[in-house]
Order: sequence, then C-alpha cells, then structure tokens
Amino acid sequence: MQENIIILGIETSCDETSAAVIQNGKLLSNIVFTQEIHKEYGGTVPELASRAHIKYIVPTVAKALEVANIHKKDISGIAFTQGPGLPGALVVGCGYAKGLALGLNVPLLAVHHIKAHILAHFIEEPKPKFPFLCLTVSGGHTLIVLVKSVYDMEIIGSTQDDAAGEAFDKAAKMLGLPYPGGPLIDKYAKNGVSGQHNFPMPQMPNYDYSFSGIKTAILYYLQKKERENPHFIKENLANLCCDIQKHIVKILFQKLTKAAEELQIDQIAIAGGVSANSALRKRLENESESRDWEIYLPAFEFCTDNAAMVAMAGYYDYLIAKFAPQNVTPDPRLTF
Ligand code: KG4
Ligand code: ZN
Repeated sequence: MQENIIILGIETSCDETSAAVIQNGKLLSNIVFTQEIHKEYGGTVPELASRAHIKYIVPTVAKALEVANIHKKDISGIAFTQGPGLPGALVVGCGYAKGLALGLNVPLLAVHHIKAHILAHFIEEPKPKFPFLCLTVSGGHTLIVLVKSVYDMEIIGSTQDDAAGEAFDKAAKMLGLPYPGGPLIDKYAKNGVSGQHNFPMPQMPNYDYSFSGIKTAILYYLQKKERENPHFIKENLANLCCDIQKHIVKILFQKLTKAAEELQIDQIAIAGGVSANSALRKRLENESESRDWEIYLPAFEFCTDNAAMVAMAGYYDYLIAKFAPQNVTPDPRLTF
C-alpha cells in the first residue's frame, strides 16, 4: 500500500504567520495571517514581527489542521522555513516546529524560503517542465533561477543591491503611500496612462540586476517636479504609478528575455510577492505570445508568503528522506 504522507508547513520568515497541510502532494489547507501592525511604521519592524508570530502561530496551525480535517497524530513530517528571513521571526517558526516534531516523534524538514517560492509552482496544475527559468521577485530577492529539477536549482542572475519588491515599496513611500506599497502602486497604476515620466535603465552585466539607481532617479525626479509644483505627486499619482511599475517590469524582463534566448529555454515561470503584480503578469503573457514561451503564473495566494509552498518543499524533501536534525537552527542568510 502507498504511504500516506501528510506534511504540516510553517512559514514565519517575515510578517506573515502561515500554516498549511499537504497530503500526498495535494494541498488541503493554507492559512495566512498577515500582520497588520507594521503598516503604521512604514515597514516591517522585526521585533514586532517576532512577537506577532509568537501570538499567532498556535491558532494558525490549529486552523490549518482544522480546515484540512487532519489530526496532529496523523502528521508525517513538519516543514518550516529555516531561512533566509528575519532572525527573530525565523526562531519562532523553527522553535515551534522542533517542539511539535519532538512531541509527535516525526521528522523535521528545513526549507529554503526562496526555493519554496519556486516550488509553489508544484502546488497546482499545470506544473512547469524541466528545465525552466523562474524569475523570483520578492521584497528581499530578485533572482533568475535555472530550475533543472525540484532538487537542482541554480541562480544565474541576481540583484547586486535592492530587490524589485524593495524598489516598489521605496517608490511607493516617496509617493506618500503606506507600506507595503507594491500592491498600491499596482492598484493606482490601473487608472493611469504610461509614457509621461521616464527613468534610466541600469547597466548591469550578464543576467544581474540593480534597483538602487532607479530609487535615486525617482527621488530626484519627484523632488524636482515638486519644487515646480507642490501638488505634482497628488495630481499625477496614477500616471506616476503606471510609469514606475512599467519601468521596474521593463528592467526585470530585459534580463529574463536575454537568459531565455541565450539558454534556449521556453518554459518561463515567475514567483515571489512581486509576481502578483498585474503589469508583470500581463507582460509575461504578451511575451509568451510573441516568443512562444510556455508560462507559469502562480495563483495570487501562492505569490506572497504562504506556508503551502513551505509544505510543498517539505514534501519533496520527505520523499528523499532529507530530514533536519533536532539541533537545526534558523539561518537568516541561508544560502541557496
Ligand atoms: O515574497 P513576499 O511576500 O515576501 C518576501 O519574501 O519578501 O514579497 C513581498 C513583496 C513586497 O515588496 C510587496 O510590495 C511586493 O512583494 N508585492 C507587490 C505586489 N504584491 C506584493 N509588488 C508589486 N505589485 C504587487 N501587486
Ligand atoms: Zn517570500
């Protein structure tokens, strides 16, 4: 008889407390609690994130088990985000997973957060075929990853400074929008027209990115325009959002199309929080038509941080018995 593998996934790397259950590779529940407390500070406050994780992890896991209709004693393994992420936030998920795994006498599965974002593509059909390129864009990372198999991923390009999500959030802050600003730029851009505000393209070698120059260019541009007209941002918000968003997407695609052409890969995926961006998704659809790409866009709930992707990554580790020891520690800078 086939083994019944039930994985509980736990994600606490940043400001989402999340738990999910996967049975034999099929998602049964995915509970995401987004911590609202950071909004008033204009960014994630690490200590507040840790405290909120402590407060919400128990009810979040209980809810995930309840929705999945799974009893604790039926769990086969516990997957948690080992890193990268905020140190204190990771400690909460890691400590909780260790305690529960010890109590239930089941193996621990230590998951890499960014790899989990990529493996979110294996939660639903259609799944990408290997090898595929995954543009992995979050608040902390901007990577082009060559995915040769579930267990074999290679970073072929990365940002040398800010991440794409950071560029969205910092630009939003300059426009007076609250944190996290990425989704708000997306929202306001829907009512804007593009082509009125231009920003420079970064000059980076190979498949690498840079977003810090854009941030400065946007800042100087806004300062200059506001000196001429103190209501400039207010009067042009939608159009500014539209052009800033379009520009960030243009930068992302410049290297993605280069990599796809040079490596002759036509399976293209996007992952991470920024992959929820509507202009990025639209551009990917347009490119897929003109370039004959097969594209993979995760459902919105699997773009931003969630435990379903952690459970999925843990499930694959479970299949090859890649278990973490009880003395495993979180690693805020866990390498790929
Ligand atoms: O993957 P994620 O949830 O957390 C990290 O691992 O960093 O990504 C969060 C990032 C934030 O910078 C947020 O502004 C951005 O994803 N983001 C978006 C959108 N939704 C989330 N950026 C642009 N457009 C969106 N719709
Ligand atoms: Zn993430």
